[in-house]
Amino acid sequence: MGKLLRLKQAGVLLLSAVLLLLTACSKKEVQDIPKATTDGWVRPAHFPEPVYRFGDNVYSKAGFELGRKLFFDPMLSRDGTISCASCHRQKDAFADGGAAFSMGIDGGISRRNSPVVFNMAWNKSFMWDGGVNHIEVMPLAPLTNPAEMGDNIKNIVRKLNQHPEYPTLFRQVFNRDTVDDQQMFWALAQYMSGLISANAKYDQNIKGTASLTTDEQEGLTLFRQHCASCHSEPLFTDYSFQNNGIDHVFADSGRYRITRNDEDWGRFKVPTLRNVTLSGPYMHDGRFNSLEEVLAHYANGVQQSATLSPLLQKNGQPGLGLSDNEQQKIISFLHTLTDEEFVSNPYLVE
Ligand code: HEC
Ligand code: HEC
Repeated sequence: MGKLLRLKQAGVLLLSAVLLLLTACSKKEVQDIPKATTDGWVRPAHFPEPVYRFGDNVYSKAGFELGRKLFFDPMLSRDGTISCASCHRQKDAFADGGAAFSMGIDGGISRRNSPVVFNMAWNKSFMWDGGVNHIEVMPLAPLTNPAEMGDNIKNIVRKLNQHPEYPTLFRQVFNRDTVDDQQMFWALAQYMSGLISANAKYDQNIKGTASLTTDEQEGLTLFRQHCASCHSEPLFTDYSFQNNGIDHVFADSGRYRITRNDEDWGRFKVPTLRNVTLSGPYMHDGRFNSLEEVLAHYANGVQQSATLSPLLQKNGQPGLGLSDNEQQKIISFLHTLTDEEFVSNPYLVE
């Protein structure tokens, strides 16, 4: 009897120790996500090796925070009105929620829908057509595009060097006398690759800390059958370029613009579906406003053309022929890719 009691007491002690540890951990997590910021850059255990090798751009908490400051600073635009975050907002998973196209300086309008910005260290290429191939040069396009931020690099570097705070902050991170464009690109690369979304219900299910409902689980099975050949786990894209049949003639030629290969006409980079419930409207031109519309497209709206992916044809006919019920289940599953912690973590924004 006494032994049992002691065992019970030990059990209670152990339980409270575990609870204490758990609360300690979760507190730490809320502050430190991405964990990269305190311990160097850390890959989520169920993610593959990143594509971006930091190389000379040594990742640090101060580097991430400097990149964050730049990302939110409208000073980087020619007239001081638009920052990266104007078109990439945290609550929209760093896309531009609600807008098919985004507003830049002088009332300029972006040519395409603003994509999400997270898990960028795994991107094999950038932009809907893959026209940019490295995270460290990625910001050059929006900084200089006349419809987005409209400035030139020389002027931006001058503004940074004359600023009351930036020269000190840059010196603390890179230990050089003056700020140059490489350091600016490095800091932005540290911030963007530190934006990691890997804690949705889908991930918790993998880690064994949450389980999917029957509908979500059936949705996942259907997803693996019909969608995962392009939107592959765990990043929900294979980064390939595909024509998913939203048109039979394309106003925007997509990947063809870069390669000039006929087979790339109307092909666009497969986007991730993580946080997809927050990042609408959908597709490179923001044509669909809801996931219901997207699923209806894949079910029976797919249009035939010379470059349509064979994966989106069934018995020679375009479309996957999914029933209403199957579409609903896939949507239930897509909701498990929403990472609330990521889109509400105050550490990720200025
Ligand atoms: C006026 C709106 C606007 C601003 C400002 C803007 N972006 Fe973008 N961003 C876009 C659009 C639109 C695209 C897609 C362009 C394309 O595919 O042709 C994009 C694409 C990207 C991508 C590629 C993501 C991917 O998966 O391929 C990254 C990264 C990015 N922007 C980061 C930035 C950074 C960093 C800044 C600030 C230096 C910035 N953006 C400023 C609208 C904007
Ligand atoms: C053949 C490859 C392929 C298959 C299979 C595929 N997709 Fe896509 N998906 C794409 C491409 C490419 C795009 C972007 C097209 C564009 O913008 O023009 C896309 C875009 C999307 C988007 C919009 C995301 C955004 O951020 O705008 C959603 C949602 C989506 N797909 C869901 C699905 C679902 C659900 C399935 C299965 C029923 C599926 N896809 C099957 C290639 C594919």
